[in-house]
Amino acid sequence: MESILFSTAKFSTLRYARYGQGDPVLLIHGFPESGTLWDRVGKKLAEQFTVMVPDLPGAGGSLTTSENLSMEDMAEVIAVILQREGLTGAVIAGHSMGGYVALAVAALYPDLIKGLSLVHSTAKADSEEKIQTRLKSIQLIRKGGKEAFVKGMIPNLFSERFRQRSPAIVAEQIDRAMDMEGDSMISFYNAMIKRADHTNSLMELSFPVQWIVGEEDALIPLNVAMEQCFLAEVNFVSLYKDCGHMSMLEAPEALANDLAVFVDYCYNR
Ligand code: MLT
Repeated sequence: MESILFSTAKFSTLRYARYGQGDPVLLIHGFPESGTLWDRVGKKLAEQFTVMVPDLPGAGGSLTTSENLSMEDMAEVIAVILQREGLTGAVIAGHSMGGYVALAVAALYPDLIKGLSLVHSTAKADSEEKIQTRLKSIQLIRKGGKEAFVKGMIPNLFSERFRQRSPAIVAEQIDRAMDMEGDSMISFYNAMIKRADHTNSLMELSFPVQWIVGEEDALIPLNVAMEQCFLAEVNFVSLYKDCGHMSMLEAPEALANDLAVFVDYCYNR
């Protein structure tokens, strides 16, 4: 695996990992995670594809600049990575917030996308209720409550069954989330609050869309995914039973297989 550092006009230090060989696929992590969340699935995909995994600004090895982060800023980072790699396009998979970034890439640079995989994600913008919850979390983090926020949030990402069977993995995710600066968490939350709704744009997309849905996902409930997963012209839909919001840890083999089938289809259809 190669770890590549670069910068853009807006961000001085950005990092992505690249491994494997073949048609390109770029995996975008969610919140409050970093590219390492994709390690297991990325290794499997690297047997067939060139895999690129960025750390978004403020996560892992990438630094952020201010609280004014937007999905469009992060989409630009993805476009720069593809340009640096000399690629005219790639299949992009985004987990949750990573899916919001991928949808911004689709809106700004549609020609760069060969296929879009939304892994426990949604094209809808935040509801007013969700915005209020995020604002409360921002206040908590500002008052020094990062640990309370992380310990409240992370277990909720997993299905009840997984929490009981694999407490060490849940604890590890809590530790990793604690590595993120509180200011970065606030930047990501502000970017999520102000993100655009892309639901109607799904009907206009010229490439296939994949939906990975966890039936026990407390963040992106089944009905929210079901309302959208038939809107694009070509949709691949996978429903995972007993799975929450984190199939890359809860069901990594199934996720790697489904992604591989989708990526292969996007390049060979
Ligand atoms: C994520 O998993 O990326 C975030 O929790 C998504 C969100 O809060 O909307």
